[in-house]
Amino acid sequence: MMAKARVAVLISGRGSNMAALLYAAKAHSCPYEIVLVAANDPAAPGLVLAAAEGIATFGQSHKGLKRAEFDSIIDAQLRAAGADYVALAGYMRLLSPEFVRAWEGRMLNIHPSLLPKYKGLDTHQRAIDAGDSHAGCSVHIVTAELDDGPVLAQTPVAILPGDSADSLAARILIAEHQLYSRTLAAFVTREQQPEWMLNRVREIALALPQADEVISHGMPCFGIEKGKKFAWFTRDHHGDGVVALLVKTTAPDEQATLIEADPDRYYRPAYFGDDWVGIRLDRGANDWDHIGDRLRASWRQVAPKKLLGLMDIADQF
Ligand code: GAR
Repeated sequence: MMAKARVAVLISGRGSNMAALLYAAKAHSCPYEIVLVAANDPAAPGLVLAAAEGIATFGQSHKGLKRAEFDSIIDAQLRAAGADYVALAGYMRLLSPEFVRAWEGRMLNIHPSLLPKYKGLDTHQRAIDAGDSHAGCSVHIVTAELDDGPVLAQTPVAILPGDSADSLAARILIAEHQLYSRTLAAFVTREQQPEWMLNRVREIALALPQADEVISHGMPCFGIEKGKKFAWFTRDHHGDGVVALLVKTTAPDEQATLIEADPDRYYRPAYFGDDWVGIRLDRGANDWDHIGDRLRASWRQVAPKKLLGLMDIADQF
């Protein structure tokens, strides 16, 4: 199993979502661990619970400090704890742009509404007043805008006749506790998911001049429009359980050389011949810069001369 992702949780009060994340992390198979619980209120009840569970805690009031000043204190704590990710869990503070930027793509939040509906406060009453059939909760990536940013997952929760904001909030909280740990676990392991890898390959491949994508032999593959293919993405092809990228090599013995140097990662793809090589993507620690270089080199192998010339000119700038 890979090393667990190190997650810091920021709270402001009760911390029941933090507790849900913490207890989910006790499972052997959980891909993250909680390394710090920090609060902008030293009296936050959640800090007592975290400390009792043996988690490092930090509590300091934001009062009298500028937003960016306070955030940089929190940032220093997160770094000292070696956090890779931040989970906001009832953290009722607006964040400075500097802080958001520093944790861009690595900070999640849970919000008690079906976003994009009801950003901000008083979400439960607003859903009831609107006559919605369902309220719910959302986990999203934190961006500079409040309660904005890509939604990763949601759970709808039925509004019952006679629901008050409190009774609805209590039921949504049950859904929150399940949704957050599940979504966080999927998020910290997303780079190991074939779909994420395919998207990454696609991004690099389709950025190349006149590249297109088609499905061939059941595999997504990338080629030059009306021309030759330069990459294949294989995922459990014929049930082999392998996730890999196949690219064209650039020299006669390159396939053999690569396999010899790193037999765990490189292999000879069946039916492709000696001028292709398979790069396993399911071995962890993928070097995406290198994979990008390989994709571009493979593209060059099949690109018509005219396109190559254009690429060379572009490369000079
Ligand atoms: C939760 O319902 C959370 O979704 C909400 O505050 C509550 C915190 O409870 N967060 C927001 O409204 C953020 N905009 P908890 O401290 O017991 O986790």
